[in-house]
Amino acid sequence: MASAVKPIFVFLLFIPFHFPVLSSEPKDPTPSAWPLQFHSVLFMNNSGTLQKVDLWYDWPNGRNFNIIQNQLGKLTYDLEWDNGTSFIYTLGSNKECRVLHFDVGILRPHWLDGANYLGRQQKDGFLCNVWEKVDFIWYYEDVVTKRPVYWAFYTGYTAHVMTFEVGAVLEDSEWQAPVYCFKEGEEERKPDVIGSLGWIGRRLGKLMRGVSSS
Ligand SMILES: *[C@@H]1O[C@H](CO)[C@@H](O)[C@H](O)[C@H]1NC(C)=O
Ligand SMILES: *[C@@H]1O[C@H](CO)[C@@H](O)[C@H](O)[C@H]1NC(C)=O
Repeated sequence: MASAVKPIFVFLLFIPFHFPVLSSEPKDPTPSAWPLQFHSVLFMNNSGTLQKVDLWYDWPNGRNFNIIQNQLGKLTYDLEWDNGTSFIYTLGSNKECRVLHFDVGILRPHWLDGANYLGRQQKDGFLCNVWEKVDFIWYYEDVVTKRPVYWAFYTGYTAHVMTFEVGAVLEDSEWQAPVYCFKEGEEERKPDVIGSLGWIGRRLGKLMRGVSSS
């Protein structure tokens, strides 16, 4: 008799402890942090204007570079420092440069923390987890490799990630803005920046800092 009661007693004893675990929903996936250093080639579409961007993200050195090739057009360098200074320039005969000062640095590796999970979606042929953050960006990450595949800003400016080289670093000598960026006085030729990737990136950074600091 006692041997028949014992298993039931043990079973009942365990139910209260296991029940909450079994009934809880699976946790939403969270976006991967950006690697501390990487190089990515992006194909961007700004309302029909196409660009190829070399993105060099370098968090330990507090710098981020967008080298933007407009389709059959200008090659623009957008060099961002974590102290808030951006140098946006062209090389060659044009000698354009614009120096901007923002009150935020470059994007944090964890800038996607706290994004709202929207579920899974096929994008560019990859099965992705999708998040949205502060109604500013929609971010698609490969379910299997956890690499970013695509993102879209609220303006409709979109990025397709063509390569993603974790750990790739651009050598120091390439992070030098040209001398005409440091000339005072005379009105220099200045490239347009409003709506550019760097400008929108800094706005994004500002929004992310407002939401969470890390
Ligand atoms: C670029 O985006 C526009 C919408 O803004 C779209 O009509 C067009 O097809 C896109 N071009 C490419 C090459 O994806
Ligand atoms: C930020 O750092 C860059 C690179 O060292 C420098 O050229 C720039 O003057 C700095 N900006 C400020 C506001 O200190």
